[in-house]
Amino acid sequence: MQTVTEKTVREIAIENPASIRVFESLGIDYCCGGKRSLSEASAQADVAIDSVLDQLAQVARDSQPSQSEEWNERPVRDLIAHIIEEHHSFVRRETLRIDSLLAKVAAKHGPAHPEILQIEPLFTAIGQELATHMLKEEHVLFPYIEQMEQAVRKGAPMPSACFGSVQRPIANMVAEHDDAGALLARIRQLSNGYTAPSGACPTFVALYRGLEEFERDLHHHVHLENNILFPRAVELEHA
Ligand SMILES: [Fe+2]
Ligand SMILES: [Fe+2]
Repeated sequence: MQTVTEKTVREIAIENPASIRVFESLGIDYCCGGKRSLSEASAQADVAIDSVLDQLAQVARDSQPSQSEEWNERPVRDLIAHIIEEHHSFVRRETLRIDSLLAKVAAKHGPAHPEILQIEPLFTAIGQELATHMLKEEHVLFPYIEQMEQAVRKGAPMPSACFGSVQRPIANMVAEHDDAGALLARIRQLSNGYTAPSGACPTFVALYRGLEEFERDLHHHVHLENNILFPRAVELEHA
């Protein structure tokens, strides 16, 4: 039988969404790198496996069944609506807000904190890349996945698509998730884990808090797509 440490981080995150809080707090990658086993991912994050197992057991005891998102059981149409309403809206709203905070902090504190001048273009690139990425999902990939689900439900032929197999646009989206994740990881590094300098002004503190929340939300967003929606789309294609 497979032990917990042999399971992939992705499997654990799907089985118990509360485990995501543990992965976030320990810096264990559960979205882009979710295919690693728990023991490999823990070693990569430099966290003792016993500590990870203790914390996972604790959140499993504390989590209520109603908190489970059960996205693997619900129609993909509902999952897509959730991703757009919760996560795409969040990215659009927060990109604007963080851009404006970054401009203020860079203008005022850039000379004393040159890391901000490095973070600013990185975040601009993330915002631009994600804006295009989400449009491709909302206008091409997601509607196609919904059409596939509808065809399977009705026993009708699969819809045709200019891209051939759904695995092609999925591979593109996964690669773009990796790019955005890598840029945010670089921002995390430059900001020393989003630690504002001592005595920093409230705008500086708000900026780092906003960036930290942006990264956390993106991890969850990518988890829902890479680990649940896209594998379900591939299954639908083979149905
Ligand atoms: Fe998305
Ligand atoms: Fe995406």
